[in-house]
Amino acid sequence: MRSYLFLLFLLPLTVMANPPVWSRTGHRVVGEIAQQHLSRKAQKAVARILKGEGLAEVANYADDIKSDTSYRRFGPWHYVNFPLDKAYTEVTPSPNGDVVAGIRFCIETLKSDTTTPEDEAFYLKMLVHLVGDLHQPMHVGRAEDRGGNDIQLQWFDRGSNLHRVWDSEMIDDYGMSYTELAGSLPRWNRAQIKAVQQGDVLDWVEEIQEVSKEVYESVSVGEKLYYRYRYTWWDTVEEQLLRGGLRLAAVLNDIYG
Ligand code: ADE
Ligand code: ZN
Ligand code: ZN
Repeated sequence: MRSYLFLLFLLPLTVMANPPVWSRTGHRVVGEIAQQHLSRKAQKAVARILKGEGLAEVANYADDIKSDTSYRRFGPWHYVNFPLDKAYTEVTPSPNGDVVAGIRFCIETLKSDTTTPEDEAFYLKMLVHLVGDLHQPMHVGRAEDRGGNDIQLQWFDRGSNLHRVWDSEMIDDYGMSYTELAGSLPRWNRAQIKAVQQGDVLDWVEEIQEVSKEVYESVSVGEKLYYRYRYTWWDTVEEQLLRGGLRLAAVLNDIYG
């Protein structure tokens, strides 16, 4: 009986300790796409800083350290919530930081020539992850439902929520490896790639918040989602992964140009 009770207490704890995250596969795809679009100089710098590891391999580091309380202050860096009918710049930024401030901080730190090798590796890994998170539409969300986490849904007859569907359910159900998924993304021509790499993180947030609004409108609370939902939204998932990867490459090519 005692061990039963113990399990009952443990269950909600394990659920809370494992908040849904933009699929591990999704983050690796973003890293892989970026790796394929690095300049020679950036490739060399990345290999040096990461001691030979690639961007796909380090893409989930920022989620892995979440369970370590000494990294707690980086928790709010994974997302940004604000009223989606406003511009990010119109709203007072959270004093705890957000994904926009996080990305900017990483870029600044990586550009500085007083950064230690340890910090260089740390903030490069953070950057790879955060650019991925930024492109998960529900990571640019509304505070009142915590980026869709509080919008309960059924995904193939199991309890889920809108945030989780976009973080992981759609991608993971496919069962593709990150290399398979990266290889199956649409091929964009040079002009398309250049167009997507234009601008900075503020421009990207503005674009992603429009996608986010559509995603919010794509369901009603309690809805039962099946194949049809993924069929409808898969092109958007792919496009967000591509945009994330190409923009990460642009940022790194600029830093290490
Ligand atoms: N927690 C609160 N809001 C969130 C969001 N938009 N994404 C991920 N985690 C969150
Ligand atoms: Zn998430
Ligand atoms: Zn994250």
